[in-house]
Amino acid sequence: MSKVTFFGGEQFPLEMHKVRIIQKLTLLPIEDRLAAIEQAGFNTFLLQNADVFLDMLTDSGVNAMSDLQQAAMLIADDAYAGSATYTRLYDKLVEIFGMDYFLPAHQGRAAENILAQVLVRPDTVVPMNYHFTTSKQHITVHGAEVLEFIRPEGLEVTSYHPFKGNFDTDRLRQLVAERGADAISYVRMEAGTNLIGGQPFSLENLREVRDICREHGLTLVLDASLLADNLYFIKTREEACRDMTIPEITRAIADCSDILYFSARKLGFGRGGGICIRDEETYKKLRGYVPMYEGFLTYGGMSVREMEAITVGLDETMDEDMINQGPQFIAYMVNELEQRGVPVITPPGGLGAHVDAMRFLDHIPQPEYPAGALAAAIYLCSGVRGMERGTMSEQREPDGTEPLADMELVRLALPRRVFTLSQVSYAIDRIHWLHQNRTMVGGMKFVEEPEILRFFYGRLAPVNDWPHQLMAKFRQDFGDSL
Ligand code: F0G
Repeated sequence: MSKVTFFGGEQFPLEMHKVRIIQKLTLLPIEDRLAAIEQAGFNTFLLQNADVFLDMLTDSGVNAMSDLQQAAMLIADDAYAGSATYTRLYDKLVEIFGMDYFLPAHQGRAAENILAQVLVRPDTVVPMNYHFTTSKQHITVHGAEVLEFIRPEGLEVTSYHPFKGNFDTDRLRQLVAERGADAISYVRMEAGTNLIGGQPFSLENLREVRDICREHGLTLVLDASLLADNLYFIKTREEACRDMTIPEITRAIADCSDILYFSARKLGFGRGGGICIRDEETYKKLRGYVPMYEGFLTYGGMSVREMEAITVGLDETMDEDMINQGPQFIAYMVNELEQRGVPVITPPGGLGAHVDAMRFLDHIPQPEYPAGALAAAIYLCSGVRGMERGTMSEQREPDGTEPLADMELVRLALPRRVFTLSQVSYAIDRIHWLHQNRTMVGGMKFVEEPEILRFFYGRLAPVNDWPHQLMAKFRQDFGDSL
């Protein structure tokens, strides 16, 4: 796991950085946690951060910055147009990805909006390895359909397959043969496939997708938001890439893509986003939407300080010692949970540990949101905030029917460079306890269900009084411990 071998034999991750700024945390007693989650409508998105001990909701915009990033922020060049900060970011992106054109955006979904405005044609399809919530929404709102061509192993919860994010290229060939290239707006490939557990694609698979796209004149769009983890997995899991450096793998990935967009809330340990484009004509088509939705072309809704931080953060992403911390901590957490009998997605991916609520709470039917119930129960027994990634995160069909998600997961994200191994061990301990008491957890129902992206601000209620019963059991087992 770590590059260092330990005398005691046990391997554990070893941080190649030290903490120089800290933020104090509070761990509320379970009675206060119950009050907080009730007030939040049992939706972890609606919790106040002050009521959270370890915030594992996401790794978006909450990764720790380095000393060099913070230093760079001080020399940011404030200008509406032509800022030197923008030039530094642009030069870094060209150096790393080798694409000539760049459009800034305030975050990843803003890049998706601009791409969808120009590339998505109604009554077409957009095949992809797997959807992400916001990317799907932007495509469907323009009247196109998302097709998910993840290989079957991608949806197997437990597996040893190293690249569960791989695209099923046979299905792509078949689609082109049956419907023709004109029926396809573009092909989307997502690095570190978010909703199936941060699972990577291999360079070999991406190259196969690229070959099909080139053969049929299809545009290949790469969502590089979770590229850092994917790079690490290619380096450590793909035999043919073992001797390549991280910058070489990055360039090989970019070379396959016509367009590459990212959320810099994830990529580059920053906050922001953007679109790298290979050809001038496409760039010009996309360009007009940046001043319309984001801001002028040299900031696109980002502050210059954030842009400086991203520039340095992108350099750090090219450093294996900087990008290995996430995957190594996640692997530790996944392996330790698995050893305690807690069902988790394997092999460990990027982004975070993903607990399989379908097995953890196999007594709760899917329409009662097992992953939503588990996220609430984990907060209650630990103060750890995770995120439901299951049926609640789907949206109803226009006729009101509710599609059941392929997987019911609770994602426990590990923002990069933020938590220590002892904090991760605490989370493992409490989840282990909850697993032992899992039959006490019951289902949930919506009491307020928004039409769009309901998981963000929908409110729920437990189907019976299981939260109070679980709290009583916690007190019985842990006495007056927090
Ligand atoms: N693409 C992927 C793969 C993402 O994971 C995200 C965000 C986006 C696009 C959108 O980027 O948030 O900057 O607008 N994922 C966050 C998460 C929200 O928590 O996983 P954004």
